[in-house]
Amino acid sequence: MAKSLLDSVMTICLRRGILFPTAEVYGGLAGFYDFGPVGTRLRNNLIRLWRQHFIESQDFVYEMSGTTLLPAPVFKASGHLDHFTDPSAECPRGHITRIDQLIEEKLKIQAEGKSNTELSEIVRKGKLRCPVCGDFLGDVKSFGLMFGTSVGGERRQAFLRPETAQNIFLAFKRIQTATRSKLPLGVAQIGKSYRNEISPRQSVVRVREFGQMEIEYFINPDNLNECPLFSDLKNVQLPIVTQKVQQEAAEKESTEYSTKLVTVEEAFNKGIVPNQWMACILGNEMKFIPQLGIPKEVIRFRHMRPEETPHYSGGNFDLEIKLSIGWKEVIGNAYRRDHDLQAHMKESQKDLSIDIEGTKVIPHVIEPSFGIERLLYCILEHTYRPKDESRGWTWFQFPLHLAPYEAVFLPLLQRPELEEIARQLYEKSRLLNLSVLYDERGRIGRRYARADEIGIPFAVTIDPQTLEDNTATLRSRDTAEQIRHQLEDIPSLLQERKQRKGF
Ligand code: GLY
Repeated sequence: MAKSLLDSVMTICLRRGILFPTAEVYGGLAGFYDFGPVGTRLRNNLIRLWRQHFIESQDFVYEMSGTTLLPAPVFKASGHLDHFTDPSAECPRGHITRIDQLIEEKLKIQAEGKSNTELSEIVRKGKLRCPVCGDFLGDVKSFGLMFGTSVGGERRQAFLRPETAQNIFLAFKRIQTATRSKLPLGVAQIGKSYRNEISPRQSVVRVREFGQMEIEYFINPDNLNECPLFSDLKNVQLPIVTQKVQQEAAEKESTEYSTKLVTVEEAFNKGIVPNQWMACILGNEMKFIPQLGIPKEVIRFRHMRPEETPHYSGGNFDLEIKLSIGWKEVIGNAYRRDHDLQAHMKESQKDLSIDIEGTKVIPHVIEPSFGIERLLYCILEHTYRPKDESRGWTWFQFPLHLAPYEAVFLPLLQRPELEEIARQLYEKSRLLNLSVLYDERGRIGRRYARADEIGIPFAVTIDPQTLEDNTATLRSRDTAEQIRHQLEDIPSLLQERKQRKGF
């Protein structure tokens, strides 16, 4: 049987130590992955680009770093303790199964928004059995998705955060005061979150410990249609799947959705999105994602259906990317109104409103929330190139600004005088802050394959001609073409390309 794309991508990831199961020697722990040297570089580059695009280019956005463990009242207020659950059922042998997924897979029925009693009835009527052992399934119950613990001698109940957002709401007032900000104010956070998924699957697409990059934009509710980014973004095209399209598809028992292409300006003017801010946030994402090597054609914004959206939401739009395993949510964009600040004010009895020209204002919040591992997986899948007649190996076509290394230096033959020159050039490049590798082992074809396989854009080869004319070849990963350059020009050539790497 032909290997699936996911398996092909994961094969390279494992072989090259890009990412691999945590505690592998003990059989791993489902839903936990470690990143090796190449994966860590990719991850760091993605974070750097995100920070550059969404934080550093906006003078009203600040970054914070909060703790991952938070006291229970935070999640009482946020609603996670009561509502952050998945419907599940247990068989007599103790296997717990996520029921909404099982129903959707086996019976092709939408399970979202249905009560546990309704789901139990569907399981019974549909004669669904435990997918592990085939035994019958008990009643559907709510399975809490947070990891809990108790802290210190006083055993205070605490939970690992299921989203970075809550730290931001809690710190909002202090940050607003410390930065002497008016509204709008954006507070971003990049960090780990934890969800005790019942059955994580599909490699890093669904994991229990994951990275998030989130921004809470705090906006004066009177100014939701005055986004400072509008003039820059108004012509960006947004592929939108409306709620109506989804409803019509559901009537035909289909999950194939057509997209409507509108500009940011049209999405706002025609009321397709709840306000101008939301239109701009989607537009900014549409500018960012294709620069990661993900084609525009596999991106869409799906207006979440009412049953998928919390009651307080003013409209949520998921950015979804088409993968070999279907369309997957990669960014959640939520118009949370003032729900979170109000909830924390109520629970903590602290005033989190701010003073705007003598009036107390509780800002409204729009939140883009990116899943780091999922986005990385989308990049891996969309930049993966299978072997073909022109190249006998698989490789990744990472954009230059994302690639783990800028170049690799290769002496063609194992001759000390070639190795010496290659090493010198490698060291000189490192002094220019380039991320480079040196590789002298194995046949040259094998070494090009090794470099291509982890997406290194350039290879510099020192060969016997170097000794005659002080030149070396610069091979491009994308075309496999080699062009000779003077040795002294090569580090600065690479540096120039690196400088062009930014967005
Ligand atoms: N903060 C939204 C989420 O984690 O999905």
